[in-house]
Amino acid sequence: MSHLPVISLNTIPQAVALSERVHWVGALDPNLRNFDIILKTANGTSYNAYVVRGSEGVAVIDTVKENFAGDFFTRLEAVARYDEIKVIVLNHLEPDHTGALPELMRRAPQARVYISQKAQSMLKALLKQDHFEFTPVITGDTVSLGDRTLQFLHTPYLHWPDTQCTYLEEEAILFSGDVFGCHFCDSRLFNDVVGDFRFSFEYYYAHIMRPFKEFVNRALTLIEPLTLNTILPAHGPLLRDQPQRYVQRYKELSRSALQSEINEGEKTLLIFYISSYGNTRRMAEAIYEGAMSVDNVRVSLYDLEGSEIAPFVDLIEGADGLIFGTPTINGDAVKPVWDLLSSLAVINLKAKLGGVFGSYGWTGEGVKMVEDRLRGLKLRVPIPGIRIKLIPTEEETQLCREFGHELALDLMGLRQAKVIDIADLV
Ligand code: FEO
Repeated sequence: MSHLPVISLNTIPQAVALSERVHWVGALDPNLRNFDIILKTANGTSYNAYVVRGSEGVAVIDTVKENFAGDFFTRLEAVARYDEIKVIVLNHLEPDHTGALPELMRRAPQARVYISQKAQSMLKALLKQDHFEFTPVITGDTVSLGDRTLQFLHTPYLHWPDTQCTYLEEEAILFSGDVFGCHFCDSRLFNDVVGDFRFSFEYYYAHIMRPFKEFVNRALTLIEPLTLNTILPAHGPLLRDQPQRYVQRYKELSRSALQSEINEGEKTLLIFYISSYGNTRRMAEAIYEGAMSVDNVRVSLYDLEGSEIAPFVDLIEGADGLIFGTPTINGDAVKPVWDLLSSLAVINLKAKLGGVFGSYGWTGEGVKMVEDRLRGLKLRVPIPGIRIKLIPTEEETQLCREFGHELALDLMGLRQAKVIDIADLV
């Protein structure tokens, strides 16, 4: 009987050479199933850290989560002495990359820490002390290791304010932090030999980078012109095979899905509603009519009772304005509306127009609650929500039409500020 060799996917005994001067010294966390509470991790994750050796010193780029510091130091000691470490680069200060930092600074006290400008206060909070040597850097700054040079790229909000990338000029390697990363643990490490991690790459982008598309696009303007032999992210496979594919994929994912559907000069306004007795639906239809009467506003009406939420998240991301209709039941807006609103954390809603309406029986708090939530999500709500007790009269239906019309005008920048005549008040 033949014996097949046992291959463990999750253990690596030592530092891994990526080139003659660059080593992976990270850690594998194959058993993690949930990252930061919000992300599923079917394949665990890795915390990638790297060592770059120059003729005049060694740089360590990022560290690992605290529980994995032992693996990190074992691998680091296999390729460098602590007294050789001249530079510590932190591309991102979240604890999964800085857990071993305090101990590394104790072991290599001569090393200087390089961080982005926005990381300074975070680093102080992390180390709980003010007295340590660090250099804040911006795009174009470099640090020399003799025959190796690290150049910094300011890439904030990918996905924290502090994030940056670091480029090893002589080898065309980009240490990208969380950017281009994913939670996928496989000890074969390299993208051309690990299992199929495409779903993980897309899932990571959708949950971590998507709210910051604008910043992704800005970062890509710095990254795209670079010659890239390899991209080394802080999580998941090391992208040595066709690294540009991942840059291009980020570019595609950071485009708005609706851009090509909407004509120049048009704005999109989406109305979502749910109705228990048809009254909130009547309001929705009247608001829809009113909004439709404004030129160049593409208005859509959706009943949440007949819908899945996921496709709406894409629509909402590309829309200019959002109006939500909810009845009030037991003193609250109804669950489908809250479910939709709680799904919007993965997209950027800042400065979109918002509006709320709804029919009620007793008290009608739901409209105000949703309005507050929209403001919390950073939408602008230029007109107070409209509430109608039970069945809208013809006069109230007309008010709904006007509400839709005014919101659509506001969306187009055509709404006149109301002039209050003092004579009307006396
Ligand atoms: Fe992998 Fe944002 O930390």
